[in-house]
Amino acid sequence: MSRTLVTSALPYANGPIHFGHVAGAYLPADVYVRTLRMQGEEVRFICGTDEYGTAITIDAERVGEPPAEYVKRWHGEIARTFDRFGIEFDIFSGTSTCPYHTEWAQTFFRRLHANGYLQEMTTDQLYSSSQDRFLADRYVVGTCPKCGFENARGDECPSCASSFDALDLLEPRGKLDGKPLERRATKHWYLDLPKLRDDHIGAWFESHEWKPNVRNFVAAMFADLRPRPITRDLDWGVPVPEEIAAGETGKVLYVWFDAPIGYVSMTQELGEQTNEDGAVDRWWRAPETQLVHFIGKDNIPFHALIFPSMLYGMKQDFVLPHAVPANEFYNLQGRKFSTSAGWVVPIEPFFEQYDAEVARFHLIASAPESSDSEFRWEEFQKTANILADTVGNLATRVLRFIDKHFDGAVPPLAEAHRAELDAEILENCGAVVDPAASVREYRFRRASEELLANAAVANVFVDRLAPWTLRKTDPERAMSVLNTCCEWIGWIARWMVPFMPGKAQALWAMIGQPGAVADQAWPGLPQADSWRSLTAGQKLGEVSGLFAKLDDETVAREIAALEERASASA
Ligand code: 2FM
Ligand code: ZN
Repeated sequence: MSRTLVTSALPYANGPIHFGHVAGAYLPADVYVRTLRMQGEEVRFICGTDEYGTAITIDAERVGEPPAEYVKRWHGEIARTFDRFGIEFDIFSGTSTCPYHTEWAQTFFRRLHANGYLQEMTTDQLYSSSQDRFLADRYVVGTCPKCGFENARGDECPSCASSFDALDLLEPRGKLDGKPLERRATKHWYLDLPKLRDDHIGAWFESHEWKPNVRNFVAAMFADLRPRPITRDLDWGVPVPEEIAAGETGKVLYVWFDAPIGYVSMTQELGEQTNEDGAVDRWWRAPETQLVHFIGKDNIPFHALIFPSMLYGMKQDFVLPHAVPANEFYNLQGRKFSTSAGWVVPIEPFFEQYDAEVARFHLIASAPESSDSEFRWEEFQKTANILADTVGNLATRVLRFIDKHFDGAVPPLAEAHRAELDAEILENCGAVVDPAASVREYRFRRASEELLANAAVANVFVDRLAPWTLRKTDPERAMSVLNTCCEWIGWIARWMVPFMPGKAQALWAMIGQPGAVADQAWPGLPQADSWRSLTAGQKLGEVSGLFAKLDDETVAREIAALEERASASA
């Protein structure tokens, strides 16, 4: 059996996670992992925070905290948000705290160097003597060399839209302090992507199936591929190995070089926590492993081209990604999520008021799988109400009726009715589909629709057979119908696990089933001769409302609050 190693993009430890991130790279991965686990597969789910790089040092400086403390604080915040959503990684570490990270990042650098995949080059860069450091493009402003606009950014001009190298700017200044910058020569190491492409990665990429967004993006990069610098002049990062730096000081690995190696170092850390010897060899260097990277589209180059090139360049049989389900962008109520512009749904207040599992389901049902999509409060309301009307209503109607009239125990199925009721629910009340097939194709939205459609089958069934009236005319048949409903609720509970694990468990307990529903085998599709498993007479658990409906006032209030937050920030 294959093993699946699932990663979600390591979020930067310098700001909160919002719904867009969750819908793009984390929830789909969590649903995928839970599905595979129920299908009996061995899976590891790796994530942690991305903690090095200039953006982090500058943000930490701005709030006057040492970077290590700053990232620790954000690490905690981000972990809490994932908790709120019920996203359960096997490990959630951090690139500056994982005890194996420095060693692995340096090992990659050393081997790529030894294998001839690194080049050294000395070039001029913009240096700020006031800040005592080289500045990355986004911290540079200056006069546009094409049109003379005085506030051009380090890589492009917002006035005439031309793009250029920061060194071409006239009178370059530091963006943060406005002080003039000078050119200084500095040595860096470059990853020889053209060579890696020609040696293997080009052919590998071509021979593999990819989502269209991944294929198009990488194909465009192949057309104009150059060596990429993978080191920086900075003091917050993994140091370039001393023997290679050869006297050059203050050189660290570029954050985008070390971050994906975090998946490897965190696998080792997880192995240590779970006493799995040789975890890295077993998960990263074994042909049975299927490596799946869940990311947002802005991470495509790194996960579909650069990191695979690094893995291949090790020449140690590291696996290359099997799939890179990259999602598009997820917006909020017609605009991009923006923490600074107040265009967000504040996480803590949200979870004080709304059901985390409904949020999970809604973010999956509206995820930006094949094009950009958005969170709209009106749509969230629809999802909440559909869940209440289908799954919630089915459970309360049927189970409360059994409580009241049949002593709160699973009613018996009369043999005489079995075949007819099987045919009715399995064939005549709507199509029944196995959502796992869609999950395996990374079609999570479709899987969520399939789950709802499967649930709706029982509503059609119960409406048609109306056990409430049958009870008076044909109690034996009424009991057989209710027995069939209880069975179906058990199926819904199992199909629901990956999407809404808590609700699935509640439903499972309501039909009196012991233990954790997540430990059940994935049910797949019900077959006429074997789909029933409940024991008649089994006491039901306590029946309670599973889903609360959302009213129009709540939605209007949330939209107004969002607008207010945005104008306050403006
Ligand atoms: O875009 C981001 O948020 C990056 N921090 C993702 C890194 S993913 C990986 F390579 F570690
Ligand atoms: Zn210009």
